[in-house]
Amino acid sequence: MIDFKALAKEYGTPLYVYDFDYMSEQYTKLKEAFRGRKSIIAYAVKANSNLSVIKHFAKMGSGADCVSIGEVRRAFMAGIPAYKIIFSGVGKSDDEIREAIERDILYINVESDAELQRVEAIAKELGTQARISIRVNPNIDPQTHPYISTGLHDNKFGVDLSTAKRMYIQANNSENLDPVGIHFHIGSQLTQLQPIREAAEIVADLIRSLQAIDIELKFFDVGGGLGIKYDDEVTIEPYDYAQAILGTLTGLDMTILCEPGRFLTANAGYFVTKVLYEKQNGEKKFVVVDGAMNDLLRPSLYNAYHEIEPLVDSTEPKQEVDIVGPVCESGDFFAKNYPLPPLQAGDLLVIKSAGAYGFGMGSNYNTRGRSAEVAVEKGKSRLIRRRESFEDLIALETEFLED
Ligand code: LLP
Repeated sequence: MIDFKALAKEYGTPLYVYDFDYMSEQYTKLKEAFRGRKSIIAYAVKANSNLSVIKHFAKMGSGADCVSIGEVRRAFMAGIPAYKIIFSGVGKSDDEIREAIERDILYINVESDAELQRVEAIAKELGTQARISIRVNPNIDPQTHPYISTGLHDNKFGVDLSTAKRMYIQANNSENLDPVGIHFHIGSQLTQLQPIREAAEIVADLIRSLQAIDIELKFFDVGGGLGIKYDDEVTIEPYDYAQAILGTLTGLDMTILCEPGRFLTANAGYFVTKVLYEKQNGEKKFVVVDGAMNDLLRPSLYNAYHEIEPLVDSTEPKQEVDIVGPVCESGDFFAKNYPLPPLQAGDLLVIKSAGAYGFGMGSNYNTRGRSAEVAVEKGKSRLIRRRESFEDLIALETEFLED
């Protein structure tokens, strides 16, 4: 049990707290599920890019899935070896492509025909060969929130099957490209196995048709997306997930690469916030807290549900309240009509499942410094990012201030 009251006292609020032991357990579960096959778990850095979090996974043997050169640099700094780093994203700049090639990462995941031409040209300039994979868009509905669905032709990600095949042929014939992998990612917070199985089957068929023309790929990259329990979701067991994927690969000797983010970190994370006031507007009761949408955006952006636990011993009846922050937006809420007992200023609320897409999607809106982040491991806590000060926020502007 994490002593949130003690942590709030020591580090202040609002505060992100991460249970590193839970992250290890999740990593091990997934790695074990692929036992008997060569596999790389490439942690999706975007889910929580704190250097200490990445380092924690690096120590467990994880790779990294990155979507900007900034994330690639973080992965290197945290000790992930180059041969376990991949770089995806629909809009990589020339500078990013160049640096990725120079750093000799496992592969660049190419998302369009035009990008393939750029990677080839840059590799040629550098007098080298770039290892690539191609992101295939299998046109499968993942049955998740439309904002985090990525595997339909309506979405901007990847290329269709026939384009992919053409690109593999070009890459295979190029002196400056080395096609080593194939990738798909149909969406995030997936709770249905069937769309994953269908997508894997489509991609495995493409691999076989490439084999027929002597194009041999080594890495079967199934993306991320494994869903977690925020509320009462029935989630996919890692074992079933692995079996569904492996079942499509009969006769293919490939290394599985998978890119989990949320599965590894979401339920390891807690956002601790302090009650400032309670207020009543007509019939509506609000609990105003010191954290806000700039700290944890998911409820505002996706109407996402996060369980909230008040750290009070109360036997009084619960009442439905809106839990809101100080930011000047009506959309600044953590929950609406949420049953809570009466609270006092200073009481703490723990917002759960906040370890993925929490801090990372934060901002400085309303000139609010971002929260501190704390790791808890084997019963001990340590600061892994200090709270931002006002001076931090203005540091990049002051030198330009005119008289
Ligand atoms: N690989 C690729 C290519 C991705 O696009 C993503 C997530 C992942 C892996 C990791 O997915 P995960 O295992 O975490 O589901 N901000 C949203 C989630 C956006 C996900 C973007 N891509 C949220 O808060 O729900």
